[in-house]
Amino acid sequence: TPVEPFDLVIFGGTGDLAARKLLPALFHRFVDGQIVPGSRIVGVARDALSDEEYRERVREAIGRSAGSAATDHAIDAFLPLVHYRPLDARRDAGWGEFADLLRSDSHRVNVYYLATSPEIFVAICDRLRDHGLNEGAVRVVVEKPIGRDLSSAAAINDAVGRCFAEHQIYRIDHYLGKETVQNLVALRFGNVLFEPLWNAENIDNVQITVAESIGVEWRAAFYDNAGALRDMVQNHLLQLLCLVAMEPPSSLAPDAVRDEKLKVLRSLRRIDESNVTQVSVRGQYRAGAANGGAVPGYLDEIGRGDSRTETFVALKAEVQNWRWAGVPFYLRTGKRLAERVSEIVITFRAIPHSIFDTGTGPIAPNRLVLRLQPDEGVKLWLMNKYPGPGGLRLRRVALDMSFAAAFGVRYPEAYERLLMDVVRGNPTLFMRRDEVEAAWAWTDPILRAWDALGDAPKSYTAGTWGPSAAVALIERDGRNWHEDAH
Ligand code: BG6
Repeated sequence: TPVEPFDLVIFGGTGDLAARKLLPALFHRFVDGQIVPGSRIVGVARDALSDEEYRERVREAIGRSAGSAATDHAIDAFLPLVHYRPLDARRDAGWGEFADLLRSDSHRVNVYYLATSPEIFVAICDRLRDHGLNEGAVRVVVEKPIGRDLSSAAAINDAVGRCFAEHQIYRIDHYLGKETVQNLVALRFGNVLFEPLWNAENIDNVQITVAESIGVEWRAAFYDNAGALRDMVQNHLLQLLCLVAMEPPSSLAPDAVRDEKLKVLRSLRRIDESNVTQVSVRGQYRAGAANGGAVPGYLDEIGRGDSRTETFVALKAEVQNWRWAGVPFYLRTGKRLAERVSEIVITFRAIPHSIFDTGTGPIAPNRLVLRLQPDEGVKLWLMNKYPGPGGLRLRRVALDMSFAAAFGVRYPEAYERLLMDVVRGNPTLFMRRDEVEAAWAWTDPILRAWDALGDAPKSYTAGTWGPSAAVALIERDGRNWHEDAH
């Protein structure tokens, strides 16, 4: 359904996120009729561009990212919604006129998207408040990284909180906008089949893999200061873990869901110097082959020979409550791995007693695999009889649902859903302040413990599944990383 005309301002309007994700997402929502003419999308950055010059950039960005929807006709219809204002958060010039522009229709929803580097979040928020732009139906979207540890995250939250009320602040984690991630909620709570089994009595272990085949690309300076734990685990992987592990919320009301996720974060077993070497592995890629060609190692890619930043991390996490006592949650993520694949794998316990004789072959435990990307879908691995009169031989076969085949619709990008949720004022899929800080409170001792160890990350060849220590981490427990995908 279409939403009322609104104004959405993208600070960092000439940046990479705007070009690759935000503008194409808005374009798709426009093509689908959800954004009506009269809405305004205002790019803001320091460059002195005219509306027309900016629109040309937007045209190119959409052409690159929006696939077959990006016809000239559709782009021509979209571009009149797009405007540009040159502004510098550190200078007063132009802010008065900018405020007049946004206040010209006081009934509108105004969204400010902070897609800049975090150092200027606070300066932008201060300017918005000084010009009275924090009042009314106003929402501010804060992109990650929200800090690099608990204290810097709290400082950003404090500063944004001085200008906006918590209900106006939308902290985005784009993984929560992915279709399959939301489908996890549908699967768990829209079916009667899984929930009775969703506990330590019936589940042996949970694996969450977010593997990328790309390297650090153009973000060397940012990435080297962050590393995989801060860049991926503190936010995306922990959010996935929360959705798997949380208790059924009483409704999908924003705080009902977020309260349950917060409890999970607060139940995570602490990882610190006492156990870090048993439950975590850091890796860094060296030269190898990826995406069909030779690629340099991380140190060459960033042009620094002495970096100890991890580009891979594997962890064994535990949720210490009645439901999950003793069930390991194995997490792993990395750059330059063998392929781009993200999945959540739930392995159920072995059958308690086998009535089959040993010649029937091993009886593999049931597995539920939620594939986030690519080829979104759900697979349920079951034991079946191999056809034929040759006796009862068992084989593992999957009930396999590919979303593309099941629904035959285009899969919207995460940002499409999330941006429209902001406009509609629904924060369920956004992180509340206490969630972000609880995630950092768990992450900080791991970072400190790694620092204290002072060793280099384990090297792995680009294009493989990470250091062998990550395999050892799970094999020590008599288990394996799920391998269907690779
Ligand atoms: C971002 C990280 O949050 O997520 C990137 O900063 C990473 O390093 C990206 O590449 C992965 O997102 P997606 O949607 O491509 O899986």
